[in-house]
Amino acid sequence: MESNSRPELLFQSTWLVLFVCLCGAGLARAQVRYSIPEEMAKGSLVGNIMEDLGLDVKRLKSGRARIFTEDSSEYVGLNADKGTLVLKERIDREELCAQVSPCSLHFQIIVENPMELHRIDVEILDINDNAPAFERKEIRFEISESAPPGARFSLDSAKDPDVAINTLQTYLLNPTDHFKWNTLSRPDGTKYVEMVLQIALDREKQEEHKLILTAYDGGTPQKSGSVKVNVIVLDANDNSPVFSKSLYRVTLPENASKATIVLRVSATDADQGANDEVTYSFSRSTGSSASSVFNIDTFSGDITVNGMLDYEKVKHYEIDVEATDKGGLTDTSKVLVGITDVNDNAPVISIISFSNPIPEDSAPETVIAMLNIKDLDSGKNGQVKCSISPDLPFRIKSSSTNFYSLVSDQALDRETVSEYNITITAADDGSPSFSTNKTVTLKISDVNDNAPLFPRQSYTAYVFENNSPGMSIFSVKASDKDSGNNAHISYLLDDYQVNGLSASACISVNAESGAILAVRSFDFEQIKEFKIRVKAQDGGSPPLSSNVTVKIMIQDQNDNAPQVLYPVQTSSSLVAEMVPRSADVGYLVTKVVAVDVDSGQNAWLSYKLQKATDRALFEVGLQNGEIRTIRQVNDKDAVKQRLTVVVEDNGQPSRSATVNVNVAVADSFPEVLSEFTDFTRDKEYNDNLTFYLVLALAVVSFLFIVSIIAILSVKCYRWRREHMFYKSNGNLPVIPSYPPLYADVGGTGTLKHVFNYEVCGTTDPRKSDMKYIKGIKDDQGCSFDKCVDFTVFLSC
Ligand SMILES: *[C@@H]1O[C@H](CO)[C@@H](O)[C@H](O)[C@H]1NC(C)=O
Ligand SMILES: *[C@@H]1O[C@H](CO)[C@@H](O)[C@H](O)[C@H]1NC(C)=O
Ligand SMILES: *[C@@H]1O[C@H](CO)[C@@H](O)[C@H](O)[C@H]1NC(C)=O
Ligand SMILES: *[C@@H]1O[C@H](CO)[C@@H](O)[C@H](O)[C@H]1NC(C)=O
Repeated sequence: MESNSRPELLFQSTWLVLFVCLCGAGLARAQVRYSIPEEMAKGSLVGNIMEDLGLDVKRLKSGRARIFTEDSSEYVGLNADKGTLVLKERIDREELCAQVSPCSLHFQIIVENPMELHRIDVEILDINDNAPAFERKEIRFEISESAPPGARFSLDSAKDPDVAINTLQTYLLNPTDHFKWNTLSRPDGTKYVEMVLQIALDREKQEEHKLILTAYDGGTPQKSGSVKVNVIVLDANDNSPVFSKSLYRVTLPENASKATIVLRVSATDADQGANDEVTYSFSRSTGSSASSVFNIDTFSGDITVNGMLDYEKVKHYEIDVEATDKGGLTDTSKVLVGITDVNDNAPVISIISFSNPIPEDSAPETVIAMLNIKDLDSGKNGQVKCSISPDLPFRIKSSSTNFYSLVSDQALDRETVSEYNITITAADDGSPSFSTNKTVTLKISDVNDNAPLFPRQSYTAYVFENNSPGMSIFSVKASDKDSGNNAHISYLLDDYQVNGLSASACISVNAESGAILAVRSFDFEQIKEFKIRVKAQDGGSPPLSSNVTVKIMIQDQNDNAPQVLYPVQTSSSLVAEMVPRSADVGYLVTKVVAVDVDSGQNAWLSYKLQKATDRALFEVGLQNGEIRTIRQVNDKDAVKQRLTVVVEDNGQPSRSATVNVNVAVADSFPEVLSEFTDFTRDKEYNDNLTFYLVLALAVVSFLFIVSIIAILSVKCYRWRREHMFYKSNGNLPVIPSYPPLYADVGGTGTLKHVFNYEVCGTTDPRKSDMKYIKGIKDDQGCSFDKCVDFTVFLSC
């Protein structure tokens, strides 16, 4: 470069020399002008003043040529030896003159002897040593995407300290897809540049645009400087939120609890920052039922359950949701919430009708109750099965959907079960299943289907004879399993004949208590037992009854004294038994025959010798009343012997009778007669001995006849009694007033009668009794523990 600039320099120097010549004529004053480019190296030649001013080296030395500068800085020095001007310092035009153009240095060369002043102007020529430069490395713009095309943005200007063509000439902005640029000049000529938006920005497409602004100068070679232009596109709310779906479908079980999240709706907004914030809400169009049941979170879009769901009321909900951004732009979507059934309803049993109580004689299949069973759930959850406990005599019949009837299944019996608690269970088919119980208490009402019942079929009551009338003998009690009036029992005497008498004449029955009362006094000797029938009747309609037989046994009391049948006692006649003097020991003299109409112990007779003429001669059989000799009769014994025998029964207290027996001890009748005259000592008897003998014979004959009559009458009784038995079905025994039955068996004595006793012993003395087996046909078995048969022989 330096070599290149030299020819020019030379040319300029030449032009300067001419100028000096025209002005310096006659005066030692000259003006030389040089031009040098800036940035020449130190020591570079500026000009040759020897040639240009015509001063030789000698003159320069003698004249002590030197440079005079008004300001202190000396860029140019004088080389007096060579007569040249050289650069003392590198010169930067931009530093020296900035934008002043042209840029020159002025100084004087002073030569003395003679004094010469030469003005030197050195013009510093600009070279393109500076490139255009921007102050900032990067320019940032934040431009809203809503900025309209044509919007202008001024850019920084670049600076180039060079001047003229070397200074900044043009700008270039690249790329130019959204922006173009304008280079403009201010009135002072400086250039500036602005950026014009050509096509609208869209942040959603491109958030940042990077451009480069380059400034060029006009130098050769051309220099440039550039700056980055960053355009940040600011978001404008130019996008509506958009839901991810236009229709959301979701199903929810009806038992979903509060705060359960149904689903999350989400809308996106392509905008940024605050414009991107979407809030959610239910649209106005959402029904109030849905908005009361659901809630939407304003920020998250979570739809939650906020109330009670009930499939049975609402099966689905339609919710319109709305998303709104800050700028008020919205989008809507629809959420369909289907509610699914959950088995949350138990069946409900309602009783439509109920017949309570029902009579126990109700036929099977009698309808007791009508039921209606409902379950609000649907499908399987609403299918109901109805049942009752299988051990009840009832059954559930399904009449039609949801309707059931409770019917009886078996015969009922109030006396067995009077009340049923029927638990009706209705269970649905859901899983888990719900069930409902309903218990009804069914009462069974009474029907008079049970007769009063006596614990036994027959009773035996005992009563002592001679009772006081009105005495309570016995009491019967019947029970009835029915209730109320059907179990109210009254007792009645079933009237029928007792020994020709109406039973009611003997007995009465208390209707309420069942007590059996004697109406009159009984006499065992007249009637020993009889049967009555007591009827128990309930108060039902029709009434039912049953009867019981009560056998009334009259018990003997010792109210009869023994009666002596033989020997017959007369006050006027004399009867004597004859004992031959030859009679041996144990000779049977006679037998005292006595009877007692009482029975048993009361009729058990014993005989005792009370008084005797000679106690050593006779004895009386305790049991049989036989009078026998107890020693050999001898001649000394008196002919007349008189014995007094006491007959005593065994009753408590005992009753007795006495009998006098006359005995004649003699071998011949005349002896007896003679003695008896003596014996009687009665004039009457002595005189009428013959009469007494006749009388004695007549008595014996009479006795015999009495015996015959007795036998006949007993036989006759027996016949009559059997006859009566037949007539009265054997219910009424006939009690003979004279019980002994004389049966002649013969052989053992002069007069023998057989009494057959049955003595029945028991622990209960009241029941101890003695019966004439043969005398009475007993139609009832003997209930005593021990029976002993014995026979009493009677001999006359
Ligand atoms: C809803 O019902 C289902 C089935 O009965 C059961 O499994 C579930 O736990 C219930 N949910 C609630 C919240 O009760
Ligand atoms: C029926 O239920 C009632 C009340 O729970 C109870 O008092 C009665 O004893 C029950 N009856 C039967 C026959 O179980
Ligand atoms: C209904 O009764 C049955 C049998 O008595 C019993 O197992 C069941 O638990 C009861 N159900 C309810 C809901 O009480
Ligand atoms: C008495 O009861 C019996 C059965 O106990 C019966 O056979 C009879 O007919 C009844 N008599 C009367 C009169 O009711």
